[in-house]
Amino acid sequence: MSKARRIVILGSTGSIGTGALSVVEAAPDDFDVVGLSAYRNTELLAEQAERFRADRVVFGDADTTADVALPGGVEALSGAEGLDALASDPSVDVVVNALVGASGLGPAMAAVRAGHQLAIANKESLVAAGELITALATVTGSELVPVDSEHSAIFRCLRGVHHDEVEGITLTASGGPLRDAHASTLETATIEDVLKHPTWEMGAKVTVDSATMFNKGLEVLEAHWLFGLGFDRIEVVVHRESVVHSLVRLKDGSQLAHLGDPDMRVPIQYAMYYPDPPTVSFGGRTLSEFGALHFEPLEESRYPCFGLALEAGRRGGTAPAVAATADECAVDAFVTRRLPFGGIAAVIERTLERTSSGAAESLEAIRAAETEAAAVASELIRELNT
Ligand SMILES: NC(=O)c1ccc[n+]([C@@H]2O[C@H](COP(=O)([O-])OP(=O)(O)OC[C@H]3O[C@@H](n4cnc5c(N)ncnc54)[C@H](OP(=O)(O)O)[C@@H]3O)[C@@H](O)[C@H]2O)c1
Repeated sequence: MSKARRIVILGSTGSIGTGALSVVEAAPDDFDVVGLSAYRNTELLAEQAERFRADRVVFGDADTTADVALPGGVEALSGAEGLDALASDPSVDVVVNALVGASGLGPAMAAVRAGHQLAIANKESLVAAGELITALATVTGSELVPVDSEHSAIFRCLRGVHHDEVEGITLTASGGPLRDAHASTLETATIEDVLKHPTWEMGAKVTVDSATMFNKGLEVLEAHWLFGLGFDRIEVVVHRESVVHSLVRLKDGSQLAHLGDPDMRVPIQYAMYYPDPPTVSFGGRTLSEFGALHFEPLEESRYPCFGLALEAGRRGGTAPAVAATADECAVDAFVTRRLPFGGIAAVIERTLERTSSGAAESLEAIRAAETEAAAVASELIRELNT
């Protein structure tokens, strides 16, 4: 790489965000950290700003700005406007969107509108506004590079493959923290059961989404937009070792796979350096050290949230934004013990039934659908909690 990349990491205090900063730490001459952001973890944000000499920081929660001492010369912005301003800073080369949930949508659009390379961890933005984001990227020349390990695997396998060769793709799924739980106990799983993921260490929301497999449904929608494939060409298989990150199926009957240890720094680094080659090795067992690898069909009846995400995707328009919002509300209620685990699917299903979905033709239309869905989902959570 000829010069240091000017990088913004939105959600720098989270699981993906700290992973991105560990990539910077491993090769400090390759990156200039322009900006970082947090929501409530403001102390850590201030420490990161000092350590990585950031120019600007954004406090996602505008109310927390006043309490924090920042190093001299660091500019502080706040709220959704601050995130948009940082994501569209004209001096930036790469924006890592490691925000969680709907908070990532506005900044994703801002980064793409500015023509920046967008390293996308925040799958929710593509789920809600895939058509808008991909169409805008075509106009502005913004490059969309996935950070999700499955999509990064597909992205890498597809380099050099003609699109006419591709039959479809296979996303692998670990099966999540409840994969071995008896079906009769799933409805009443606790937050403690769910936060023990077998192969990946992640933030709370994505870990709960992995347990319900809503996450895998969102990943199918994400793949649909990133790779321009119909839903019938995207298959999901359970692979408990999380070593084969995903596969491309070719029309000649062969398949291309991307393998490695389950370490998110690998796909994060890839997206931060793309199209240049990544420079740091994050370990790596040999094939014989991986041992036996297992693949099983996904038992969809165990995971109603997976089917609901796909149903929303097939319905199209604002339905995926509605389903994702309902899930976000339900997961928050589950984590704060206001909803049983089995209630998450019920909230998504009934929110989809009780809201009208329209065309996802603008950010405003998507925001309006999200607002309506959040109100309906909150009401349902109250009903299910009484
Ligand atoms: N973790 C993984 O291994 C993994 C793998 C694949 C994809 N992803 C995707 O990557 C995204 C981030 O996941 P994560 O696990 O890194 O999440 P996380 O650990 O919960 O971190 C989320 C980040 O977003 C900030 N944030 C939270 N709510 C916000 C709001 N309303 N406004 C602005 N900022 C907000 C948090 O700030 P505070 O720390 O201050 O709360 C934190 O910096 C998700 O879309 C997830 O699906 C994650």
